[in-house]
Amino acid sequence: MTAPVRSFLRDDDLTAAEQAQVLDLAAALKADPYGPKPLAGPRTVATIYDKPTLRTQSSFAAGIAELGGHSMLVDGNLAGIGVRESVVDVARVLGRQASMIVWRTFAQAKLDEMAEHSGVPVINALTDEFHPCQLLADLLTIREHKGVTAGLTVAFLGDAACNMGNSWALAGTTAGMHVRFGAPEHAAPDAGVLATAATIGGTTGGSVAVFTDAAEAVAGADVLVTDTWVSMGKEDEAAARIAIFSAYALTEELVARAAADAIVMHCLPAYRGKEIAAEVLDGPQSVVWDEAENRRHAQKAIIAFLAGATELR
Ligand code: NVA
Repeated sequence: MTAPVRSFLRDDDLTAAEQAQVLDLAAALKADPYGPKPLAGPRTVATIYDKPTLRTQSSFAAGIAELGGHSMLVDGNLAGIGVRESVVDVARVLGRQASMIVWRTFAQAKLDEMAEHSGVPVINALTDEFHPCQLLADLLTIREHKGVTAGLTVAFLGDAACNMGNSWALAGTTAGMHVRFGAPEHAAPDAGVLATAATIGGTTGGSVAVFTDAAEAVAGADVLVTDTWVSMGKEDEAAARIAIFSAYALTEELVARAAADAIVMHCLPAYRGKEIAAEVLDGPQSVVWDEAENRRHAQKAIIAFLAGATELR
């Protein structure tokens, strides 16, 4: 019997128990990076990047090699996905060449379509709506610095209406965290995502709350997070966005309102003097380079998890 194909398209594709299992696996793979080879063959993982990338491309390429696999870079422009060929036809072709597909693109709906028709696991390497691989890395980093995730309070400041805000709402509550957003009223995470996060929190002991006052959001928090105010694809709105979000910059004054041992996180790229002060990003409470490294370990873990749950081609 063929095992069903599982994908990782958004954070709540993993139950709380599965998320914990993947994070345990990530820690084990970090401790033994060249041991387990679930992609031995080598099996091919197709990777496609329709938006700029540094951490994601490099961490997937290195991680796939460490797992014994082959990372195949597919140029989305050359392929003309959705232009020269439909997403459905691209999915059918890549699913015959590769064991998994990793895709960074714009609309989540296109990723869902790829997963529906490829016949192999698809991993979300960032869409406009979600960035679940980043959240696995972030949760691994929190575990390393705090020992646990459940019961901790995280405050996310700035543009919470982006992929990182939505993913924090889902993955943070799945991990049993109290997720607070400090954002202007119109820049809260998606309402449907917030409702789902509240439901998840009801089962894990976590919670989700939105504040318009940045100082209120960060008060006593264990983890402080921010992200660029100008997500990829929003470059035309840069000037207006910088004006709208300036009251939510992660400054030393706001860090002082959090718990004394709070850690500071940022998925990068960071814009010093905009969403985060240079003194904070480069300061003693910042764990951003651990986060960047942990992309590799966390993504290896989700690949190994999906390989275990799916009969690979
Ligand atoms: N919200 C950011 C995340 C970058 C990793 C963006 O989409 O550009």
